[in-house]
Amino acid sequence: MSALLMAIYLRGMTPAEIARWTAAMVGSGQRFDFTDLRRDGKPLALVDKHSTGGVGDKITIPLLPVVMACGGAVPQASGRGLGHTGGTLDKLEAIRGFSAELSKNQIRQQLCEQGAAIFAAGELAPADRKIYALRDVTATVGSLPLIASSVMSKKLAEGARALVLDVKVGRGAFLKTEPESRELAQTMVDLGNANGVPTRALLTDMNRPLGYAVGNAIEVAESLDVLAGGGPADVVALTLELATEMLAAAGIDGVDPADTLRDGSAMDRFRALIAAQGGDLSVALPVGAASETVTADRAGVLGDLDAMGVAMAAWRLGAGRASPGEPVQAGAGVRIHRRPGEPVAAGEAVFTLYTDTPERLRPALAELDGAWSVRDTAPPELPLVIDRLG
Ligand code: URA
Repeated sequence: MSALLMAIYLRGMTPAEIARWTAAMVGSGQRFDFTDLRRDGKPLALVDKHSTGGVGDKITIPLLPVVMACGGAVPQASGRGLGHTGGTLDKLEAIRGFSAELSKNQIRQQLCEQGAAIFAAGELAPADRKIYALRDVTATVGSLPLIASSVMSKKLAEGARALVLDVKVGRGAFLKTEPESRELAQTMVDLGNANGVPTRALLTDMNRPLGYAVGNAIEVAESLDVLAGGGPADVVALTLELATEMLAAAGIDGVDPADTLRDGSAMDRFRALIAAQGGDLSVALPVGAASETVTADRAGVLGDLDAMGVAMAAWRLGAGRASPGEPVQAGAGVRIHRRPGEPVAAGEAVFTLYTDTPERLRPALAELDGAWSVRDTAPPELPLVIDRLG
């Protein structure tokens, strides 16, 4: 299998080969079907989203309750982080008691009663779990056909009737260039549509981290800010863009997803969902016991911020894992105090790093070297949504 993965990495696959490979991965496990489920006598508007992996990409956390509050039902098979990108499950498990180990019956019950279920991919496309671990050790993660089949095998198996993909482009993404990401998006859209799941994709910027928080608990806290009607502008904007796409894909109209952040209904949905999965939001989120602050040595505006440098710092602090199955630190991460273009005075904080393991601070600080600068003029604004496909 390692030799085959390397051959695929080097030679690519034809569309027919990708389709056949993806079908075999879907067929390696269960395929959920929730079309018999009803709420108020009507079939559920089953829709999901998936991101190809970003830095500070906590969007699933505020997005699900927004879509639930607008009448959508989201069966969300989530993964753990590997390499430099975080996983939604690692983030949510920073909430005391939260569990994503749901039985099929629990998923069905939650979809009807709550409008969403967040569960470990587990029995869905189990071949992906094994292949993903091999890709990690054979350095074949960044292969377009392997990413497309990995994402789509889980999503085709999870029982959504429509799918929205957030395909990342840039330094912090698995595929760095726009043409590669565009081809990845089109490949996944074609796979979804060919398998009876209407699929659309947004190409979004991942040169800079999303928001001000990169890690686990720290990203949950930022998501709660968004659900409370605040939060960073880019996180709010991407949440609402993806919600709009999901609602359109699910055939829900006449609702404004932004209202659910203003009127608190998305927050209510989030609290109910987390409680249904055993989580206790009244317990303070963990913060790493050791911290270090990086300050600006001159006044100016923050220049560009390299998502990969910030991701690697968070990973060194213990927010991510080096091999599958390793534990992550819930309280580890990076708080970004200034985003590109924001003014900063000499001596003011630019980053705070958190970890439970003080010896991790030095290597994490080294990862940030060269990832940021203070300059006289603001760097160019980067559009958050680059394009829409499907
Ligand atoms: N997300 C996945 O599920 N698989 C990949 O290969 C990359 C991102």
